[in-house]
Amino acid sequence: MKPRFVVSGTDTNVGKTVFAAGLAGALQGYYWKPIQSGAAPEGDKETVMRLSGLPSDHILPEQYRLNAPLSPHRSAELDGITIQPATLIPPSVEGPLIIEGAGGLMVPITREFLQFDLYAKWDLPIILVARTTLGTINHTLLSIAALRMREVPLLGVAFVGEDNTDNMRTIGEIGEVRILGRLPHLPQLNAHSLRDAFTTHFRKEDFA
Ligand SMILES: Nc1ncnc2c1ncn2[C@@H]1O[C@H](COP(=O)(O)OP(=O)(O)O)[C@@H](O)[C@H]1O
Ligand SMILES: [Mg+2]
Repeated sequence: MKPRFVVSGTDTNVGKTVFAAGLAGALQGYYWKPIQSGAAPEGDKETVMRLSGLPSDHILPEQYRLNAPLSPHRSAELDGITIQPATLIPPSVEGPLIIEGAGGLMVPITREFLQFDLYAKWDLPIILVARTTLGTINHTLLSIAALRMREVPLLGVAFVGEDNTDNMRTIGEIGEVRILGRLPHLPQLNAHSLRDAFTTHFRKEDFA
C-alpha cells in the first residue's frame, strides 16, 4: 500500500500548504487539494508546484475550484453550485498521496457536511498542522478532541513557526499525540530552502 495522508490544520493560514509541499517533495509523492476556495494570487496547487520541486504531473487538479476565498460551503453557494461530498474520492496514484484540506476540521463543505465528516469516511491518517505561538495549545487540543470524537485516525502534529518547546511538549503530553516535528519560519521560502528545512526537521520514516 502506498502511504496516503490528509494534511489538516488548527486553522486557515497555519502553514498546511507549505508543510504539504515539503512532505510531498520529500516523499516524491503526489499532491491533491480537492476543494480550493479562492485562488488569488495563486491557489495552493500552484504554490505546491513552486515549492515542492515536483514535476507537474505530481500535482493533481482540484475537484472544485471556487472563486471566493470563503468557507467552501459559502464559496460554492456564491458560484451557484453545491459540493457533492460523495464524489470526493482520493485519486489512485503511483506513489504517496498528500491531500490538503480546506481550513480546519469543522469547516463546512455543505451546510450539512463538514470537513471531518469527509475525513471520517476516508479513514486516512491526518497530519494536523499547528502554529507554535500563544493560543496553539487550545486550538490544537480542541482539534485533536474533534478528531477522536469523529474516530478519525491521527498520525501526529506538525508545527510551523518559531521554536516554542513547552507548547509542543504540552500538546504532545496532554493530547497524547505524536509530535512529528517543527518547520521553522523560512525568511527565504523557496523549493531549495523548504527541502533542506524539511529534511532537517522531519523524519521520512514517520511518513512511511
Ligand atoms: N515555514 C514557513 N516559512 C515562511 N513562511 C511560511 C512558512 N510556512 C508558511 N508560511 C507562509 O504563511 C502563509 C500561510 O501558509 P500556508 O501554507 O498557505 O497556510 P494554510 O495552507 O494553512 O492556509 C503563507 O504566506 C506562507 O508562505
Ligand atoms: Mg493551504
